[in-house]
Amino acid sequence: MGTYILEISYIIASVLFILGLKMLSSPDTARKGNLWAAFGMTLAIATTIIFHTKNGEPIQNHIWIFAALAVGTVVGWLLAVKVKMTDMPQMVSLFNGMGGACAALISIGEFPHAEDPMTGEMLSILAGLLIGTVSFAGSMIAFGKLNGNIKDWRTKWLTYLNMAFLVSLIAIGAYIMMQPEPNMSLMIVMAVVAAIYGVTFVMPIGGADMPVVISLLNSFTGVAAACGGFLYDNQAMLTGGILVGSAGTILTVLMCKAMNRSLGNVILGAFGGGSGGGASKEYGDYTENTPTDAAIILSYSENVVIIPGYGLAVAQAQHACHELEKALTAKGVNVVYGIHPVAGRMPGHMNVLMAEADVAYEKLLDLEDINDQIAQADAVLVVGANDVVNPAAETDPGSPIYGMPIIQAHKAKSVFILKRSMKPGYAGIENELFFASNARMVFGDAKDTIQKLSAEVKAL
Ligand code: TAP
Repeated sequence: MGTYILEISYIIASVLFILGLKMLSSPDTARKGNLWAAFGMTLAIATTIIFHTKNGEPIQNHIWIFAALAVGTVVGWLLAVKVKMTDMPQMVSLFNGMGGACAALISIGEFPHAEDPMTGEMLSILAGLLIGTVSFAGSMIAFGKLNGNIKDWRTKWLTYLNMAFLVSLIAIGAYIMMQPEPNMSLMIVMAVVAAIYGVTFVMPIGGADMPVVISLLNSFTGVAAACGGFLYDNQAMLTGGILVGSAGTILTVLMCKAMNRSLGNVILGAFGGGSGGGASKEYGDYTENTPTDAAIILSYSENVVIIPGYGLAVAQAQHACHELEKALTAKGVNVVYGIHPVAGRMPGHMNVLMAEADVAYEKLLDLEDINDQIAQADAVLVVGANDVVNPAAETDPGSPIYGMPIIQAHKAKSVFILKRSMKPGYAGIENELFFASNARMVFGDAKDTIQKLSAEVKAL
């Protein structure tokens, strides 16, 4: 009876994972989708603890299990409540690393019980160890880099060393499978080499390219968890692992596409992490405006487009932005937002921030839609965005961002750029837009400047 309940609960959990993931594709349903998937996971954990048996014996060690659940819940809860939106990539990296470590530990735990080394079971164990350990070690380095504790380490020979590690890991795995019995010492050697490989794989990648790498490592963890699902013949684990693996892979590909870069180019590092960019050109002088000047133009505009970027996230200016939108709307101005798919530092970063500030979802237009109407905008407000509005992506074949789709802010009648200085953004290159005749720089922290703009707009 218990076995049937367990199997049915795994099927229900799998369906909840799939529906939850589907719901994450729209901000309206994302919160609910998260809860559904979490409920599926809770159901799978609870029924496993109650009904799982091995050789007819139920699960023992309840004290250890509940103590671990309590510690994990408290730590996870506190981290999730405290984390700042801009620190989200670090947190994802940390959690992902834990998933990889779990998959690797499952493999180590099951290895001595494997019946015959030359089986699919052993292949799942070794794949789980290899992928899980690489994911764990790589995610810890990614976490350190994003947190500013670890610097990039780039030398040409590291690429060759990484290839050598990969080949040796496959060779060790094959050798383990050829042994007459499971050999724990070889298994430990494999775990150590995989951990070193995880470190050297991520070390050369530009710190700012980490979101792409984290998404890739996330897909690794999914595959490692799916190996555990095979091992235990557990449908919930298998479905969950496959969903994470495939979603991570799709996300990685989409991010690379939106940056017009190949995955190989991200891994070998072409730009980002402050490594510089295209040749510096002489663009002439830029024009500076005060918030008062900008507020007058905005107030008397018919159509205004706000383009948020990474700086808006740093300044936490999303609520101030919504206030400004409301102040302008009250004056009869039509305000919409142009959302670039890789604005900020994580996928959907700007959508999440704007949703947090209760900006209506229909006001958030994606790249194609906003570019169709931006020439009709009387004014564009670029809030802490830089690369995603850089015309060099369309006009300069020598630029490292050439080919990346951009929001064509330069086509609007007036462009106000809110940032603190003339410093470049993530790609480390100058932006011709800032020197254009229709562009005005409004210097200062994005939140302060927007609050001043709102006050001026309301006073006019
Ligand atoms: P960036 O090009 O990085 O520019 C952000 C700008 O914000 C900077 O120029 C900075 O100028 C300004 N800024 C920082 N703090 C500010 C503050 N407190 N107030 C006002 N301005 C502030 O950002 P973007 O246009 O959003 O482009 C994103 C970049 O990240 C792209 O190159 C993209 O390829 C890359 N990337 C994105 C992702 C994802 S998934 N989103 C993943 C990896 C890489 P100042 O210092 O002068 O203020």
